[in-house]
Amino acid sequence: MDSIQIKGGRTLTGETRIQGSKNATLPILASTILIPGISVITHCPRISDVETMVRLLSSIGCSIEWNADELVIDATDVREYRLPREDVVRMRSSIMLMGAMLGRMGETALDYPGGCVIGKRPIDLHLMALRRLGAVVEETEQKIHAKASRLIGTAVRLPINSVGATENCILGAVLAEGVTILSNAAMEPEITALCEFLQSAGASIEGAGTSQITILGVPQLHSTVYEIPGDRIVAGTYLFAGVICGGKITLRDIPVSHMSATIRTARRLHGDVRITGNIMEIERRGKIEGIPLIRTGNYPGFPTDMQSALMVACAVASGKSVIEETIFENRYRIARELCRMGAAIEIQDGKAYIDGDASLHGTQVIAEELRGGAALVLAGLAADQVTNVMNRHFIERGYENICKDLRELGADISYR
Ligand code: UD1
Repeated sequence: MDSIQIKGGRTLTGETRIQGSKNATLPILASTILIPGISVITHCPRISDVETMVRLLSSIGCSIEWNADELVIDATDVREYRLPREDVVRMRSSIMLMGAMLGRMGETALDYPGGCVIGKRPIDLHLMALRRLGAVVEETEQKIHAKASRLIGTAVRLPINSVGATENCILGAVLAEGVTILSNAAMEPEITALCEFLQSAGASIEGAGTSQITILGVPQLHSTVYEIPGDRIVAGTYLFAGVICGGKITLRDIPVSHMSATIRTARRLHGDVRITGNIMEIERRGKIEGIPLIRTGNYPGFPTDMQSALMVACAVASGKSVIEETIFENRYRIARELCRMGAAIEIQDGKAYIDGDASLHGTQVIAEELRGGAALVLAGLAADQVTNVMNRHFIERGYENICKDLRELGADISYR
């Protein structure tokens, strides 16, 4: 049936452990190509995007094994520079293989990548950064072909601080000749994780997590072991579930330092959030309050990936809220589905105007992308009666087992 069924209206109690970060894992897996040896990646989320990346790596010659949540990747024998279309078009992160393959093999050929339909999502900045490093990139209507006998370090300035373009540039620069200075870089924690992984393999990188990253190319990387940090978006989703449904829940293994804006926002909604080490307790007894105006932003701002979950919270909170999405213009698609469940939301001039105090009622709703799909699950938890969220495969791109996790938190939810 490809759906998730939720019997809503329960307060939540219980505890669950947060999986490893999808957005950290995908570029790190791509970067293992740069290592002519073995990478052991622990706390790796078993989600469909990771399975896609594993197939892509296998297709070019990596040997890969799963041991529980550990992935062991042997990239000693990579040889194929062409990537298979059926997996490339499944997700946008396949573009991360470009920088890594150019760095290791000097050549790559792939179709235009796919991904969630949340906005235009061009790849011009990725290609610009790799061209600056000396790659010759040819584009046809369908395919991209890039070549470089040797990438050469240089100054690269991104006009927009794109997460993916920052990562691709780092991947290209790690084995390049000389120094690359990347300015106006994105500062997301997943970029820091990628740099930590590469440093553990012998790369020379300074400034990760700031807007200027300096990479001194090294001749070769070596085998390494790395643990993926907890997923700040999955943790934020369950944090908002606690705020929306009330009760008391505990989340373990959360990346606290990556979640300041999300925690601050949950507190603005009047959720009581307590942190001890990497454990978060969320309690809510009274009604939640709307937020007069909140904008999504690049890290350390409020994450665009949390925007849909926030929209659900604002729909049931008291009073009016306004959300402004500044990263992906097409990320309000769930508003229509939420209105079908009883929410009052209007989208105008790039902002969502939400009249709160909605009593949501269960019905069949359709997920169109990953984070919006997870937010519809939260709406189902808050609604009376039964909600069926169709197209659960979108949610499985980023959540290992959202039903198991939310059942541990006391929800009545199952895959159908
Ligand atoms: C990453 C995350 C995604 C998150 C997003 C913003 C992964 C796998 N995905 O996506 O979950 O929502 O960061 O935090 O890590 N842009 C261009 N040209 C380009 C590239 C981007 O114009 O070549 C624009 C995009 O249209 C968008 C903005 O830059 O408006 C930011 O996008 P970017 O940071 O690149 O997002 P992703 O890396 O795709």
